[in-house]
Amino acid sequence: MKPSENAMLINNSMLIAPNHNVLSAWTGHVPFAAWLMQMQKPRIFVELGTHLGMSYFAFCQSAVEGKINTRCYAVDTWEGDDHAGFYNDRVFLDISSYNEQHFAGFSRLIRQRFDDAANEFSDGTIDLLHIDGFHTYEAVSHDFNTWKHKLSDRAVVIFHDINVRDAGFGVWRFWDEITQQYPNFQFDHYHGLGVLLVGPKQNEAMQALCNSSEDQSHFIRSLYSKLGEVPSLRYQLSQAAERIYHLESQISQLTAETVHLKEVTMNEVNRIRHEEDTRIQSIRNSTSWKLTAPLRKLIDLLKR
Ligand SMILES: C[S@@+](CC[C@H](N)C(=O)[O-])C[C@H]1O[C@@H](n2cnc3c(N)ncnc32)[C@H](O)[C@@H]1O
Repeated sequence: MKPSENAMLINNSMLIAPNHNVLSAWTGHVPFAAWLMQMQKPRIFVELGTHLGMSYFAFCQSAVEGKINTRCYAVDTWEGDDHAGFYNDRVFLDISSYNEQHFAGFSRLIRQRFDDAANEFSDGTIDLLHIDGFHTYEAVSHDFNTWKHKLSDRAVVIFHDINVRDAGFGVWRFWDEITQQYPNFQFDHYHGLGVLLVGPKQNEAMQALCNSSEDQSHFIRSLYSKLGEVPSLRYQLSQAAERIYHLESQISQLTAETVHLKEVTMNEVNRIRHEEDTRIQSIRNSTSWKLTAPLRKLIDLLKR
């Protein structure tokens, strides 16, 4: 690989540490999302299927870190589907507030069905489209065909789950077909991610990726597959740190309780001791004790 091509396929942005602390089947593609945002610099990025925001916020965070001038849109009903499972409103409320807090300036969540949301975009405007909705062959081909007219002349479309062949998933089949028509690149890890260059005017980095030789492709795939483990390891680390913090606070609470119990016990022992001393003293001072003193002496003598 020539050094210039190398620089095009590898850069610092891949080492992004996602701040939005969730895990999903997409986590392993975070480093590539960062690279793609950095190299493709989409003026408009749209994601179809956002759920917890794993992929979407990775793109948004990469845009901030790479100072990319972009507008990002996440489309979802935030109700779920037969593949992702169905979930309650808490998910939407949480990611809305995260979006508001971190990316309000350039990112919008559109809570609609994909078909309805398409009306919000003018034809030929979307530079980067991520399709990760319902995963049957029919759904994914429908989504692609519905949004195709919205794509710009330098558009890239990415598809998640191109490597899943059970549970009614059919993205792989659509991917097999569509890759006959456009230059593309395929990652196999984390259920597979397909990169399709739909617009005819692609920049050098996108062309380098999709024109890479077999050796280069192998290198890129194994690099991203290894890098893809980092976000999940970070997540596990942060969970372990949280658990340690929780256990440490439990230990200090138990230590404080033990000190307190020791104090209470010592006070009780002292109180009983004091009561006993007082009782013994009062017996010794009593008249009957004094009158029976000669008798006790006699008993002592007899014992000896
Ligand atoms: C696999 S999840 C998305 C995962 C996400 N990209 C991530 O990073 O983990 C698919 C989502 O697509 C949404 N969805 C499926 N079909 C839809 C449709 N036709 N319109 C709107 N949302 C849809 C579901 O509600 C679900 O949240």
